[in-house]
Parts: sequence; structure tokens; C-alpha cells
Amino acid sequence: MAKTQARKDKAPSVASAKTEVKKNTATTKAKASDAKKKTSVAKSKPKAASKEVSASKAKKTAGARGTSKSRTAAKSDGSWLLNLRNKSRVELEGKTILVTGSPGFVGANLVLRLLKEMKTGTVISFDNMNDYYNPTLKEYRLKLIDEAVAKSGVNHLFIRGSIADAPLVERVMSSYRPDVVVNLAAQAGVRYSIDHPEVYVESNLVGFFNILEACRRYPVEHLVYASSSSVYGGNKKIPFAVEDKVDHPVSLYAATKKSNELLAHCYSKLYDIPTTGLRFFTVYGPAGRPDMFYFSAAKKLVSRNVIQLYNYGNCRRDFTYIDDIVEGVFRVMQGAPEKKKGDDGLPIPPYAVYNIGGGTPENLLDFVSTLQEELVRAKVLPKNFDFEAYRELVPMQPGDVPETYADSRALEEDYGFRPTIGIREGLRRFAEWFYEYRRRYGDKD
Ligand SMILES: NC(=O)c1ccc[n+]([C@@H]2O[C@H](COP(=O)([O-])OP(=O)(O)OC[C@H]3O[C@@H](n4cnc5c(N)ncnc54)[C@H](O)[C@@H]3O)[C@@H](O)[C@H]2O)c1
Repeated sequence: MAKTQARKDKAPSVASAKTEVKKNTATTKAKASDAKKKTSVAKSKPKAASKEVSASKAKKTAGARGTSKSRTAAKSDGSWLLNLRNKSRVELEGKTILVTGSPGFVGANLVLRLLKEMKTGTVISFDNMNDYYNPTLKEYRLKLIDEAVAKSGVNHLFIRGSIADAPLVERVMSSYRPDVVVNLAAQAGVRYSIDHPEVYVESNLVGFFNILEACRRYPVEHLVYASSSSVYGGNKKIPFAVEDKVDHPVSLYAATKKSNELLAHCYSKLYDIPTTGLRFFTVYGPAGRPDMFYFSAAKKLVSRNVIQLYNYGNCRRDFTYIDDIVEGVFRVMQGAPEKKKGDDGLPIPPYAVYNIGGGTPENLLDFVSTLQEELVRAKVLPKNFDFEAYRELVPMQPGDVPETYADSRALEEDYGFRPTIGIREGLRRFAEWFYEYRRRYGDKD
């Protein structure tokens, strides 16, 4: 972990060519005319706005992420863009895109994708680098971003700070005037919300409100934000469709995500802000979140600790590989709900919500078996590993739900995409990454 650690010591600097300026200069910069600012951001490398801000243009060659079928398909064929229904096309090329929650798991992968797809423009990562899980992994992802920046014509800024910090959000929005905002920053995790409710209120409610307010004051072409499959709570009707009732959350996390959708609807209606919420279903993949089952199970098995299978293993989860999630977000960003007026002359809210889920729920026991096979195949575990000795069947946990199952037809109809990567392939890529990461950095996740 030497390289990552060294960079962490110098945080928030992110790469060889970086810019850091004092915290309060952002306010001064914000006073410049909006139009002027917008032009200068699009044409040239933006000036950093605060001490929390670093601009990176790394020198090294990218070795970032492997490609996937879906990624390749999307690059070679943009025909789906011609079939967007009831959407306004949002051109990303040359634009300024703000991605909060990068370098979190989904955010970092989205930024890597944008750096690959766009030729010019600016991508801003905005994250408080909290220690809900080991921030070393976020530093690692930031390093992948730095490496990708070297191969991209796109500028990248990293702003270290909280979206719950309203003045900072205001400075960022007024200084850089993003065209598209993707809000992925949030306190994730269902179980953690049971003992740490205040963090969820701060990041997911206050933080999201700040983003909405900023989008009202500095209009954007599209605000895309992460919701979650957890809003479906204990719904019995499967698969879960966006039209289903989701009024009975079983965790505070779910309640904050549902609240985000309500707040977004209100802001879309009142201020004509195009918003799209995406209900992600259990995202997994390389450099994922160590708090999630597949990752923590791999870590436990490596250190010969027992893994617990909740609800006695009798759970079904609609797992979604990270590249599929990124493909979905990338497409949705480019098609904003159309602005229309109703008979009353007022805006019909340019608002939408979609599921993004694999659509093939896996039984937890089958998922674990595949994970184990792939950990052996990737040489993380020996061939003769006694798996039975390291699994324990335990009761259901508070906040958990027995089954998730996405109906992603709306996404397919409107954006021509549904997740394609199955758990065998996805867990193989995870296991191979896990092996390589541990070989290079040891147990630092
Ligand atoms: N991974 C999944 O399975 C999953 C499923 C459903 C929904 N989601 C949602 O998708 C989004 C991304 O999730 P992820 O898996 O990448 O999680 P993650 O924890 O890896 O990323 C979230 C990032 O947000 C940052 N963050 C948290 N609070 C912040 C704040 N107040 N200000 C600035 N940054 C802050 C964290 O430091 C982290 O890097 C989240 O909104 C999450 O709730 C994820």
C-alpha cells in the first residue's frame, strides 16, 4: 500500500500536477459573472476553488478498470440515444459534470467511465472521504482516477468536503456551474443506520437538500441521484416495480432514500429541475464496499473467520455488477425528463425514478457457493478449503429484507438497457481483483 499511503499522507493532493488554493478564495471567485465562469470552465482547466479542491492531470498511463461487454457495447453503439422517449437529450461532451460520492465505489467507477467516454470537459469529484469503511480504498480508487486522467482530455477536480456543508456546496456550484450533477454521496448501509441515525440525517437528508437547493440556484440540465432498492422494504409483490407502493421503510437508510425521491419530486415540480432517481439493487464488483456481504465474506474467509448467513441463508438478492450500474447511470445522465407545461400552465414535474437491478435474484447460498469457487479459482483460498467449517446460519437482522428483485423494464424501454453481467462473471472479476489487491497492498481494505 506504499504508494496509496504516501498519497494519503498528502491528502487532499491527488496527483503529480495538482492545484490547491486557500479555502475562502472560492467566495471571491463565485462573484465573477456566471457566463464567464461557465466558458472558462469548459474551455480550460478550471481554477481550484478551495483548499478542499485539488485538480489532477496525472502523468501515468491508466491501468484503471477492465472493460466489460456492456461498456464496449455502449461505446460502439449509441443508437439507443435516438430512441429516447419523453426525454431531453443531454450532451455530455465538453460539459462540466459534478459527481458527489466519488471516489466512493459507484462514484469512482462512474468518473472512470466519464473520463473514458468524454473527450473534453470537466469532471468534479466531491467526497468527504469518511471512514465508514477504510478510506484507503477510496484513496486507491482516487489513484485509479488519477491514472485515467492521464489518458483523458478531460479535466478532473477533487473536492474534499461534505455535501452537508451548505456554503461549500454553494461555492462549488457557483464556481464551476456544473451542467449535470450526479449525487451519489450518501451514508450507505442498512445495518449501520440502526445505531448511527444522525449520519444518515446529515448526509442523506441535509446533504441532499443542499444539492437540490444548489441546483435550484444554479440550474442544471439534469440532476441524477442514487436511491435504493431498500425503499421497497418488505414488499411481497415481486419483482419490485417503480409504480409499487413504497411507504413502509424498514430502516432509516431506506426512509432517507424515499425522502430523497419525495424532495426531488417537489423541486422538479416547483422549480422545473429535471431529476432522475435510480434505485440501485445490491451493487458488487472489484474495489467495492468492504461492508457488503461478498467483500466482507472474502476477507473473513481469508483470515479464517466464520461468515454468517442471515435468515439461515434463506435470502434472495438481486445483485448488480458495477459496470451495469455505471452503464445505467451513464445512459440516464444523457436523457433528462422533458420539461412540459400542464393544462394549468405550471410545470409537469420533469421527474423520473428507475430501478437498476440485475433482474435475476440469487439465493444467498448459491451466491456464496459461486463466491467460494471463484475465490479458489483466483487462488485467494486453497483448493481444499473447508467451507462448511466457516459458515454459520443465523436469524434475520433488523432492517434486512428477505428478497429483492428488480423490475428494470422501464429502464430498458426508456434507455435501451438492462443489466447483463451475471454473478459468475461478476464474482470472477471481484475475486481476481481481490487477489491482486491483497498481493500488492496486503490487508488494507
Ligand atoms: N452499493 C450498493 O449496493 C448501493 C445500493 C443502493 C444504493 N446505493 C447508493 O449509491 C450511492 C453510492 O454508493 P456506494 O456503494 O458507492 O457507497 P460508498 O460508501 O462507496 O460511496 C459513497 C461516498 O459518499 C461519501 N459521502 C458520504 N457522506 C458524504 C457527505 N456528507 N459529503 C460528501 N461525501 C459523502 C463517502 O465518503 C463515500 O465515498 C449511495 O447513495 C448509496 O446509498 C448503493
